[in-house]
Amino acid sequence: MWRVTWLLLLATTVWQRGHTTEDENAQSPRHVSVVIVGSTGDLARKYLWQGFFRLYSSQVGKGYTFSFYGGGLSPSEKGTPLLFEILKELKCPPELAAERCALVKEQFLRLSQYIQLKTVEDYEKLSQQIEQQLKQEDMVEAGRLFYLSVPAFAYADVSSKINSTCRPPAEAWFRVVLEKPFGHDFESAQLLAAQLAGFLKEEEMYRIDHYLGKEVVAQILSFRKKNSNFLEPIWNRHHIERIEIVLKETLVCKGRIQFYDQYGVIRDVLQNHLTEVLTLLMMKIPANLSNSEEVLKNKLNVFSFLAPLGRNSVVVGQYQKYTEEVQEELNKTKDYFSRTPTFAGVGIFTDSPQYDGIPIFMTSGKMLDERVGYARILFKNDIFCVQDYSHVSCKPKQIVFHLGHGALDYPAILVSKNLFKPSLVSSVWREVTEHKDISVLGLPLSDYYIQTPVAPKEAYYVLINKVLHGRKDSFISADNLLASWAFWTPLLDSLVQAFPRPYPGGAANGDLLNFQLRGRELAYVNEAVVNVIQQGQDENFQVMQGKFRGAEMVSAWAKELVERLASDLQSIAEEVIQDEGQFHLVLSGGSSPIALFLQLALHHYTFPWHQTHVWLADERCVPTTDAGSNFRTIYEQLLQHVRIPYFNIHPMPVQLNQRLCVEEDGGALLYEKEINQHVNASSFHYVLLGVGQDGHTASLFQDSKLDETGERLVTLTESPVKPHQRMSLTFTAINKARRVGVLVMGKRKHELVTQLSRIKGQDNPEVAEGV
Ligand code: BG6
Repeated sequence: MWRVTWLLLLATTVWQRGHTTEDENAQSPRHVSVVIVGSTGDLARKYLWQGFFRLYSSQVGKGYTFSFYGGGLSPSEKGTPLLFEILKELKCPPELAAERCALVKEQFLRLSQYIQLKTVEDYEKLSQQIEQQLKQEDMVEAGRLFYLSVPAFAYADVSSKINSTCRPPAEAWFRVVLEKPFGHDFESAQLLAAQLAGFLKEEEMYRIDHYLGKEVVAQILSFRKKNSNFLEPIWNRHHIERIEIVLKETLVCKGRIQFYDQYGVIRDVLQNHLTEVLTLLMMKIPANLSNSEEVLKNKLNVFSFLAPLGRNSVVVGQYQKYTEEVQEELNKTKDYFSRTPTFAGVGIFTDSPQYDGIPIFMTSGKMLDERVGYARILFKNDIFCVQDYSHVSCKPKQIVFHLGHGALDYPAILVSKNLFKPSLVSSVWREVTEHKDISVLGLPLSDYYIQTPVAPKEAYYVLINKVLHGRKDSFISADNLLASWAFWTPLLDSLVQAFPRPYPGGAANGDLLNFQLRGRELAYVNEAVVNVIQQGQDENFQVMQGKFRGAEMVSAWAKELVERLASDLQSIAEEVIQDEGQFHLVLSGGSSPIALFLQLALHHYTFPWHQTHVWLADERCVPTTDAGSNFRTIYEQLLQHVRIPYFNIHPMPVQLNQRLCVEEDGGALLYEKEINQHVNASSFHYVLLGVGQDGHTASLFQDSKLDETGERLVTLTESPVKPHQRMSLTFTAINKARRVGVLVMGKRKHELVTQLSRIKGQDNPEVAEGV
C-alpha cells in the first residue's frame, strides 16, 4: 500500500507541475499537508472530504500542491477501505466539466491516504512522513492544516500530540481547525480555551461555525456596506420594527441523543449559529471588511450592548417522541423523561441607543413543519394606503437573508421593492428575475429584488478555503466565544428546572408553539393545555381565615390577583386625582410586584401617569445600575414603559458624595424633605408593600432599632442578608398613608401567609387593605 501511494504521489506531483499554467508568476508551488483527524466519522463523511476535494480542484495549478491524510483510531487495514468508500462517493463540483472532474478526482484519490493516529508515535510518524515527502520531492512547505473532526473531549489530547510532534519549521504555517461544541457553558468553555491555549496559539486555531460559511451569512456585511447609503438612515430603532433569526428543522434527534440530550437546542444552534447571524446584523460595519482583526473586534462589541437574558426571555418546548428516543438511546426506563428542549424561542433586546427597543426574536426547533433558515429585518411602514391595498408600498417592508431550504429553496438576499434596489453584493452573485409563484414571509417573489450566488458553494468548502488563505474573520475567536457563552449561560442556568412544553411535531403543532412579547418578556400565546378549574372571577377570590392587622386577606390565582390589584389601583388613582390633582404612590422592590408592574405597563394604557408620583418604600444601598437595586427593577419593569414625567419619579438617594448610605451624607433626611415638599401632610395615597421570607416589610427587619426613629419618615436600616445596608420608609410614614396594600406571591410564601393570618388583628389597622 505504502509503495503504491508513493508512486502515485510522485506521478500526481509531476502531473500538477505540468499543469501550472494558471500560475503566471511561475513561482515553484508550495506544499500543503492536510490532516483530517477523525476522517471516517459522520462530519468528515458528509462534508469535509467533499470540501477538501472542491478546494483541491479549485487550487490545482494555482501555486499549491497537496497531500491529504485521513487519520483515525483504527489500524490501517480497517481504516483504508473505509476511507476509500467515502472518497469514491465524492461528487463533482459544479464548476468542473465531467471529464476534467474525473481526472481531478483520480488525482485527489491518489493524494489521499488513511493513517492511524492514536499514539504520540503515530503522530511522530506522520510528521516524519510529511518531512520525507517534502525532501524527496524537493518541495517548499507552505503549511500544515489539521482538521480536528473528533468529539470535543478529545481536543486537548489531540492538540497536545500534534503540538509536540507535528509542528512545521518556522517558515511554514500551522493551522488547526476545531468544530463545535466549544464547551457547554461559560465555565467549561473557559476551561477548554485555557487547555487549548496550552498547546496552540490563538492565531493557529480556527474555530468553525459552519453558518459563517453559508454564502448569505458570509455576505451580510458586504450587503450592509454596499448598500449603506440606503441602509444607514434606516438601520436603527426608529425604522426597524423587529428582527427575526430563525432555523426551523423537520428532523428529529434520533441517532444523536447521546450528544443532543446534554446540549439541547439553545446550545446546539442558538448560542453559536444564530448568534453569529445576530452579531453580523448588529455590529458596526468595519471600515475594511478584509481586516480580520477589525471584524472580530466589532463583532465582540455587540455582546457589550445585548441586554441580559432571564427565565422570562424564553419559551421552550420538546417534541413528544423525544422521550422515547432518549429512553432508547440512553438505556433509560419507561418512567424517565428529559427536560432538554428541542424547541426554543427567545426575545433579545439591546441597551444600544441605535437599537434600543427593537425586539430580536430568535427561534429554532426540531420536528417543526418545514426546514428553513432566515434572518428577517422588518421595517416600520408609515404609509397609509387609502386605496389599492395590493400595491407594494402598502405591504411589509423587509429584507430577508434567506439561508436556504423553505419554499424558495436557494440561498438569496431579498429586499422588498418598497425599500430600495440593492447593489449586487459580489461579482459572483446575480439578480434573479424569473420568479416561482410563491410567497416568502408574506410577500410574493415578484415584490422583491432578489440576488443569489451564481454557483452556490457548500459552507465547509468556503471555510476550508479561508483556512488555507489564513482569513480569520470567518472563525470564532476565543473572546467572541466566551462573550457568547457569557450571554447565554444565565438563561441556560435559569432553565435547569424548567419543563419544556410538549409538542406533537410537524403540521400538528398548529399554533401551540407561537409565542409573543409581553413587555420585554416572552410567553406562549396560548396557555398550556392544563385544566385549571376556571370558575367565575369572583369565586376565584377567597377571603382567608383570620385577619392581618384588622383587615381582610384575600387569596386568588396570581394572574387574577394582579389584574384586580392593578384595576383597583387605577380606580383609586383616578379618584384621588379628581379630588386632589395628584396621586402619590409608593412601590416596593422584590419579585412579587413585578407581575403587577407589567400588568400596569401593558394593560393600563389609560393609567393617569402624568399626575402620578412614584416613591420608593425601601432601597438597597447599591448603585441604581446594580441588578439588586429596587429602583432599577421598578424602572425596567414599569417606568420605562409608561409616559410618566421625569419630575414625578422619586428614587431614594442612597448614593451621595460618591458613597452609599453614609449617615453623615443625610440621604434619609433628604428623602424626608422631598416627601414633605410634595406630599400633603406626608400622607401617601397608596403604599404597596411586600413581605420577606422572615416576615419583614419594606426594609424594616425584626431586629432593626426602630423605636428611635420617632416621627422620622425615612431611616437607614440593616438587613440580616446581603446587601445589609438599606434605606426605608419608617412605620410612621407607612402608617400615615391613606391606604396600604400588601402583595405576597409565590409558592414559597404560602406558609408565611398562613402564619401572618394567625397574628392577632389590631384595632388600629396599620395595614388598611390586605390584598
Ligand atoms: C448543527 C447542529 O450544528 O447545525 C444540528 O448540530 C443542526 O442540530 C445543524 O441541524 C443545522 O445546520 P444546517 O446547515 O443544516 O442549517
